Amino acid sequence: MKHNQIIQNTIQFVKESLKNAEGGHDWFHIERVYRLATRMAEGETLNPLVVALGALLHDIADAKFHDGNEDIAPETARRFLLEQGVSEAVIQQVVYIIKHISFKNSLENKTVNISKEMAIIQDADRLDAMGAIGIARAFNYGGFKNRLLYDPAVPPDLQMNKETYKKSTAPTINHFYEKLLLLKDKMLTEKGKRLAAERHTFMELYLKQFFKEWKGEI
Ligand code: ADP
Ligand code: NI
Repeated sequence: MKHNQIIQNTIQFVKESLKNAEGGHDWFHIERVYRLATRMAEGETLNPLVVALGALLHDIADAKFHDGNEDIAPETARRFLLEQGVSEAVIQQVVYIIKHISFKNSLENKTVNISKEMAIIQDADRLDAMGAIGIARAFNYGGFKNRLLYDPAVPPDLQMNKETYKKSTAPTINHFYEKLLLLKDKMLTEKGKRLAAERHTFMELYLKQFFKEWKGEI
């Protein structure tokens, strides 16, 4: 099958799979990551098919929404790609990316072999958690989980490991200090670093205004 056809089929498959997803993890998140990753991949020496398939399939079955089961996503992706006649070499790369990309997995001190393709997808995924979109996604996720916007009595927990991160019920503002403001220094590519700097500054400005309004300052 032609690469273009495989990508179109993957888009349909992912759209269908994420039909009922929560707003921050829906098809449009995937589309943003796919577009950004594709742009970041331009002019780089890499396999664009791996970038496209990895970006499109990276959240296919988020463990958060599957009782913590982390095997569903890689297995679902492998089955789908096999049906599409994708080569075993490409499948292996894509499945590896899907398995290792998430932020909470990065809190475990496992050694991960990061390909250029994976670096770009990971940066693009993390960039979508930053800036204007990142703010919108955080509050949407907080609402989905019925969390408070902010509670001055609950300080951010900066020592989270994978387990406490998954269990956290803290207010959404804490998420900025526990994750979103840390992402800038976790970028793996030069392009990612540049884009992250801009989105980081925007979040800092947002938080400054948030606390000003919270305190009723005029
Ligand atoms: P990962 O794929 O690394 O597990 P997540 O799925 O946790 O990352 O993050 C996806 C989106 O949901 C991001 O925009 C993130 O900021 C948001 N999110 C995750 N956890 C929280 C939280 N506790 N409060 C607010 N937003 C959250
Ligand atoms: Ni994602």
